[in-house]
Amino acid sequence: LNFCVPKKRKEILDKLIKGLQRLEYRGYDSAGIGVDGGNDIEKSEQPTILIKKRGKVINLQEEIQGREDLNFDLEFDTHLGIAHTRWATHGVPNNVNSHPQRSDTNNDFVVVHNGIITNYKDIKKFLIGKGFEFESDTDTEVIAKLLKYMYDTRESDSITFRELVEGTVQQLEGAFAVVFKSTKYPGQAVASRRGSPLLIGIASKSKLSTDHIPILYSKEPSKKLLGANKEKGNKIGAGKNEGGTCTVTGNNQEALNTANSTSSFQPANGDGQVEYFFASDASAIIEHTNRVIFMEDDDVAAVTDGCLSLHRIRRSVDESSTRQVQTLQMELQQIMRGNYSTFMQKEIFEQPESVVNTMRGRINFDANTVHLGGLKQHINELKRCRRLIFIACGTSYHSAMATRQLMEELTELPVMVELASDFLDRKTPIFRDDVCFFISQSGETADTLMALRYCKGRGALTVGITNVVGSSISRETDCGVHINAGPEIGVASTKAYTSQFIALVMFGLMMCEDRISMQQRRADIIKGLKELPDKIKDVLKLDEEVHSLAQELYQQKSVLIMGRGYNFATCLEGALKVKELTYMHSEGILAGELKHGPLALVDKAMPIIMIIMKDGTYTKCQNALQQVVARMGRPILLCEQGDTMSQKEAHRVMELPGIVDCLSGILTVIPLQLLSFHIAVLKGCDVDCPRNLAKSVTVE
Ligand code: G6P
Repeated sequence: LNFCVPKKRKEILDKLIKGLQRLEYRGYDSAGIGVDGGNDIEKSEQPTILIKKRGKVINLQEEIQGREDLNFDLEFDTHLGIAHTRWATHGVPNNVNSHPQRSDTNNDFVVVHNGIITNYKDIKKFLIGKGFEFESDTDTEVIAKLLKYMYDTRESDSITFRELVEGTVQQLEGAFAVVFKSTKYPGQAVASRRGSPLLIGIASKSKLSTDHIPILYSKEPSKKLLGANKEKGNKIGAGKNEGGTCTVTGNNQEALNTANSTSSFQPANGDGQVEYFFASDASAIIEHTNRVIFMEDDDVAAVTDGCLSLHRIRRSVDESSTRQVQTLQMELQQIMRGNYSTFMQKEIFEQPESVVNTMRGRINFDANTVHLGGLKQHINELKRCRRLIFIACGTSYHSAMATRQLMEELTELPVMVELASDFLDRKTPIFRDDVCFFISQSGETADTLMALRYCKGRGALTVGITNVVGSSISRETDCGVHINAGPEIGVASTKAYTSQFIALVMFGLMMCEDRISMQQRRADIIKGLKELPDKIKDVLKLDEEVHSLAQELYQQKSVLIMGRGYNFATCLEGALKVKELTYMHSEGILAGELKHGPLALVDKAMPIIMIIMKDGTYTKCQNALQQVVARMGRPILLCEQGDTMSQKEAHRVMELPGIVDCLSGILTVIPLQLLSFHIAVLKGCDVDCPRNLAKSVTVE
């Protein structure tokens, strides 16, 4: 982007819409934008235009294109636009409930919000008492109106936008990432977060004056309008997952030069031209800049006269007094679909490379050693622990299920695998010598994050296994492993699963590196890891066969997926993929449990996929196969190449390459990823954005 020339409204709108499209996987039931009505920055009271539309971002885009009252060629020297894509929690998806939410019919203060305000009812009652009238059913509307109330009752006209926002967010309980725009403060942006992710991108042609932005501390907290907060600290209550994005374009030379360079950021030796972005994640802005600051809970960021400053209410012990400008490695190409029809398809086919990226620099295939740099400082503690607990949700939970048996074998420790929500419901006892893993692609899942804080509070060592660099879980854990799978955009997780699987296997290998008795087993597994990319490529060649199976199955009501041992997790994960993508019922069944209930479902009409690999459970799987066939079942078999014994009983067969037993789950899950993809396409479902779901669930 060229920052030297003023921007036309069309460019600004396009940039906001593109940002929303990149964030759409976070929520997609409605979208909206707020932009400047006029272009005279000197003139305050420039109106803000809000355009909001139910449905996906494309609907908003069409709405904007059809707006004849908008002059798309109008040029702006300085402009702030905010935008939002929503996943509804409070209030059905409709135009009014979409963001931005506003303070009044003049749109004096508007806000986009990701999260949930848990005390919104109290604030609403308070504001209604002050004469405010509400138009939406959202919790977010109270934020805009509270800000307006703060403005109307300000003690001095010199109060800044940032001070108003600071006063406002201190009244909020729950989780939020918020960006504000105001007609009273044209060309200024203020943003804050607590519990929901928010980052700042900086695009400037000139060098940055500093890589560390100092935090400015306010003198004293604002008084509470509604009595003492019930919540303490940075608790996240619950939240929704939408993405928000906003851009401030500024080329105000004079203002930049007069800014205080010790307390705020500005490009060095620059001509003042700089562009700032606030976004829920980096994918929204990576095409404009890879220089970002990850905001921390309770940070307030303000852009005034082209300068960025960061603020906090008070400084606590051990807290860093600066925020670093980081350079992201993410490439634009990684978040583009390329030649694939959907992100999910692209991500499935990326797996030969993504698994290599997970292992890169970590495994020495000649010396049979594994080095996980992110765990280095805690290696003794890890090896001395009494129990390993893996905590996650959804697909990430399945990756822990898939590696539990191997983990028990390699570490000889008790291993618990927990769904984060249930773990919290049970108030599971945790001890100081426990090591707790938090596995999360996004690193933002509320249940997993809450479980992390719970375990930290009880003194356990916490380890993050995340994909998103800079995410809350990666920052709040004591140590961890980034799976390096690259951005995953499809809501249904695929490549993150196989990479999480490998990260956990590598951890198990690291834990037993000193055990002589384990050397052969370790060597076999490391050899298997080396063969993995080629074997994944072989499995992907089954795509046509899987497509033909999808044609047979797509009109069915239900599909059962059966297996045991190392492949039980594949059954659970395969069934989850089918459910979320195709809205068909599907169940992952432990073959050992077949005779305890599921056998009653078996007849010649019920589609049954059976996974039989030549591992320690092979004979028992044969028994299950016979039991299914004896009840007229017509099993669809996923088995090893050349396994004629199993194949002669099957209705359909898909042959997979053999691999060391504990890694077969990586190969067996891929045909099921492909199957759910093809069924979804045949049924006309939205592959990347399944109904009612979102990728990053910041709701408890
Ligand atoms: C959501 C997504 C799933 C994902 C789960 C956990 O439900 O739709 O695909 O597995 O959250 O997400 P995480 O980011 O913590 O791995």
